[in-house]
Amino acid sequence: MSPEKPAVLFVCLGNICRSPLAEAAFRAEAERIGLAVEIDSAGTGSWHVGEPPDRRAQAVARRYGVEIGHCRARQVTRDDFSRFTHVVALDESVLVTLHRLRPRGAPAEVKLLLDYVDGRAGEGVADPYYGGDDGFEITWADVTSGAAALARRIAGG
Ligand code: 4NP
Repeated sequence: MSPEKPAVLFVCLGNICRSPLAEAAFRAEAERIGLAVEIDSAGTGSWHVGEPPDRRAQAVARRYGVEIGHCRARQVTRDDFSRFTHVVALDESVLVTLHRLRPRGAPAEVKLLLDYVDGRAGEGVADPYYGGDDGFEITWADVTSGAAALARRIAGG
């Protein structure tokens, strides 16, 4: 058994929609079940580095009682694969980029978020950026399911 503290990094494209919501949902779930874990999020792209989450992502988080306005986008780095025990992709294109970026022998587990959800392995969380507000409700539902399943997995359940 590894004695290291778990640390989870959620990664999407821009780090302004899906991964900040996954980070927030997972933090809430970890607090709820008393799981000690480090949590962060990042994007594969650099377009939005330094920006807060999309206002529609902030709005959906607020509707479910979570504040994400303080988050600032950053780009994933090769070091992240040794700083985090779990590097979690929000969709397949992100997963492909992560596998390319990952240094050989880096210890992190690299998977899709929905791989942790029974019956949803291989599915991505759809990108809500170019759609309407209802897309963000679907994103919230998906990241909440993924966060609960991942927290259970890390807790050993
Ligand atoms: P995210 O959404 O990956 O969930 O943060 C996107 C945000 C921005 C862009 C694409 C997806 N973009 O192309 O700028």
